[in-house]
Amino acid sequence: MKTLHGKIAIVTGASRGIGSEIALTLANAGAKVVINYAKNKRAADKVCAAIVDAGGECLVVKADVSKPMAVRGLFDKATEHFNGVDILVNNAGILIFKEIAEMRDDEFDQIVDVNLKGVFYTLREAATRLADNGRVINISSTVTRLMLPKYGPYAATKGAVEQLTRIFAREVGDKGITANTVSPGPVYTELFRAGKTEEDIKRMAAMASLGRIGEVDDIAQIVLFLASDEARWVTGQDIGANGGII
Ligand SMILES: NC(=O)c1ccc[n+]([C@@H]2O[C@H](COP(=O)([O-])OP(=O)(O)OC[C@H]3O[C@@H](n4cnc5c(N)ncnc54)[C@H](OP(=O)(O)O)[C@@H]3O)[C@@H](O)[C@H]2O)c1
Repeated sequence: MKTLHGKIAIVTGASRGIGSEIALTLANAGAKVVINYAKNKRAADKVCAAIVDAGGECLVVKADVSKPMAVRGLFDKATEHFNGVDILVNNAGILIFKEIAEMRDDEFDQIVDVNLKGVFYTLREAATRLADNGRVINISSTVTRLMLPKYGPYAATKGAVEQLTRIFAREVGDKGITANTVSPGPVYTELFRAGKTEEDIKRMAAMASLGRIGEVDDIAQIVLFLASDEARWVTGQDIGANGGII
């Protein structure tokens, strides 16, 4: 039997990048997957079609995670369609790659709204709506420990997500629910590439002990492990998935 047979997973920001690979990986392990997106319906539908082609089940739901009512609606739709939620992967995120001196108020607010408030809203729903022995996996970033220029507000939101996760793990542990963060290093996606030169990318690849930029599957496999029963004793932790960059 597949590892996640019978489980229902919501993956936020699953239309592209790391999130789409997480959705495909969880579906491949037997989970029914809710593919959330904000703008890119065509990409979300494509991920769902790939899951269906491989014999899996999925539901595409548009919801801007920075809006509390939209997040409630996401859980409502998942619950109505699949009769419950076992796994929440908070992957949706944005990066505005600028030094603090250059960043506008509205850009700062946007980063906080999606990366931090978005996680808060989903955790608040998950606290009462996730099944017993459920799993929460929040995607942070290794930049919380790297101190790289131009990542300031982004790293601040991710540091806050790590802290929220540790306390959330305490608050839901009596139901057997685990909550952890996965902190990727650089991974080849649109979010990572925007605003960087080839030279920047080469320099970052060389920073990792394993000497390369991460692939989306490097991250999805760690999420799969944390979602599985084998990871039942791991909670309140942050797992660096970064090729040894730090
Ligand atoms: N790539 C890296 O190097 C790296 C490193 C460390 C951590 N991370 C983290 O990994 C996660 C995924 O990053 P990525 O590189 O895969 O990014 P990406 O390729 O830019 O994809 C971002 C995803 O998030 C969705 N999204 C954006 N704003 C949203 C909102 N308000 N509500 C719902 N969904 C929203 C997008 O949906 P649409 O398609 O609808 O726009 C898309 O599916 C993020 O949390 C990021 O911070 C990435």
